[in-house]
Amino acid sequence: MIETKCVPATPEAIAEAAARIRSGELVAFPTETVYGLGAHALNPQAVAAIFTAKGRPATNPLIVHVLDIEAARSLVTTWPAHAQRLAERFWPGPLTLVLPKNASVPDEVTGGGPTVGLRAPSHPVARALLEAARVPIAAPSANRSNHVSPTTAQHVWDDLKGRIALILDGGPTQGGLESTVLSLAEDPPRILRLGLIPPAAIEAVVGPIRLPPLSSAQAEEEGTPLPSPGMLRRHYAPKVPLEIAENAAARVQELLAQGERVGWLALQVLGRWGENAVVIKMPASAEAYAQRLYAALRELEAEAVTRIVVDAPPQTQEWLAIWDRLRRAAA
Ligand code: TXA
Ligand code: MG
Repeated sequence: MIETKCVPATPEAIAEAAARIRSGELVAFPTETVYGLGAHALNPQAVAAIFTAKGRPATNPLIVHVLDIEAARSLVTTWPAHAQRLAERFWPGPLTLVLPKNASVPDEVTGGGPTVGLRAPSHPVARALLEAARVPIAAPSANRSNHVSPTTAQHVWDDLKGRIALILDGGPTQGGLESTVLSLAEDPPRILRLGLIPPAAIEAVVGPIRLPPLSSAQAEEEGTPLPSPGMLRRHYAPKVPLEIAENAAARVQELLAQGERVGWLALQVLGRWGENAVVIKMPASAEAYAQRLYAALRELEAEAVTRIVVDAPPQTQEWLAIWDRLRRAAA
C-alpha cells in the first residue's frame, strides 16, 4: 500500500506533483473532461505502474498529454495537415489525435502498437502540471479499470487510494465525459471513441470522417479485432446492472414490485416512489447531463441500488456521446 495524499491544486501542490511525475511516481489530476492518472510518458517503469494501479490490461494504450502542437510533433513520425488544422481548432481541448509514434514513445504507452494518442488539455491545473513537469504525461482516466471515469477528486480517492502517491483536487470537471479519440493514421480519419467534440465539428474542419462501427458490441461478438480497446463493450460500466428505458416509470414500478432497490436517472419525475427508489433528476441539456452522468452513477452505487434505469435521452447529435456511454454501461 502506498500512502495517498489528496490536496487542493495550489501552485505548491502542483510543483510537488511535477517533481513526483519526473521521478516516476503516479499523480492524479483534473482535466476539462475527467480526472487523469498521470505518469512520465517517456519512463517505461512509470507508465507500467499506471496499469498496475488501475488493474488495466497492458494492451490498452494510453493517451499522452502535451502542452501544445510543438510537443506533440516531437512524439510522432508525421504531422499531417489534418493534424495541424484540428489541433489549431480544438487544442487545448478534448480531442485526442492518434498518429504514428516515433522511437521516443515507449511501447508501454501504446500497448505495443505503432500509434500514439495525443492531446493538449485545456484545464489550468493540467496545463500548469505539464509546464512544471516539462515532460509529456501519459494519463488514462483515474478510475479502476472497467469502472466509470472520475469527475471529482473524491471519485479518484474512492477508486485508487492506497495505489497512487498524490491526487490534485481541482474541483468537479467541466466536461464530464472523455475526449473524442480520432485516428489520423488512416484515410479518411476515423473516430475510435465518441467524446466531447462532436463528429460534425471535426468534419467541418477536415471533411468526411468515419464513425465507430454502429455496433462495436457486434464486432466484439464476431471476434473482429477492435482498433481501440475503448470500444470494448463494458468499458464504462457502473457496478450495477443498468438499462435504458423508453417508458422508465413503468419499468421502475415493475422492478420495485419484484423487490429490487432501483436507481433511476430521470429526465422527468412524476409522483412518489417510496424508499426503495433512488431518483436522480438529470439535467435536460446534453452538456449539463454529460457533466452530471458519472457522478450520478457513482451516487447510485453508493445508495446500494440493485438495478439502474435510465430515461432514454433525445436521439439527436449532441446526445451521441452520452448514448454511447449509456449503451456500454447497459451492455
Ligand atoms: O478525456 C480523456 O481522454 C481522459 C483524460 C484524462 O484525458 N483520458 C482517457 O483515457 O479517457 P483512457 O485511457 O481512459 O481512454 C483512452 C482511450 C482508450 O479507449 C484507448 O484505447 C484509446 O483512447 N487510445 C489511446 N491511445 C490509442 C491508440 N494509439 N490507438 C487507439 N486507441 C487509443
Ligand atoms: Mg478510461
